[in-house]
Amino acid sequence: MIGRFNHVAIAVPDLEVAVAKYRDVLGAKVSPPQDEPDHGVTVVFIELPNTKVELLHPLGEKSPIQAFLDKNPGGGIHHVCYEVDDIYAARDRLQSQGARVLGSGDPKIGAHGNPVLFLHPKDFFGTLVELEQAHA
Ligand code: CO
Repeated sequence: MIGRFNHVAIAVPDLEVAVAKYRDVLGAKVSPPQDEPDHGVTVVFIELPNTKVELLHPLGEKSPIQAFLDKNPGGGIHHVCYEVDDIYAARDRLQSQGARVLGSGDPKIGAHGNPVLFLHPKDFFGTLVELEQAHA
């Protein structure tokens, strides 16, 4: 069911430090920071030839990233994202297999303007999984 690997997201305590490290130490192409108020994050996209890395930093008072950073003050891998062809078919299949879809269970529009869902990390070996319908 899952298709291409879309991105890995890394929560960082200091976005400028993280951007400088990816740009200057690793020599990566980094985007300007982009605020996503609906998701409580500021995102920097790092474009690699075969995939993307997203640096996430808390935005606003009740950012889900802040709770993650409270537990992981130095930062850490926050989630991985896999592409699916049909987000509703993916959700129905996962729920029928007993996997927990976070939130209301309805897809939200993610950082790339595409519908996304998140799956409970306890059902996937301690890793928060995002599913994205990459092509409408
Ligand atoms: Co993501």
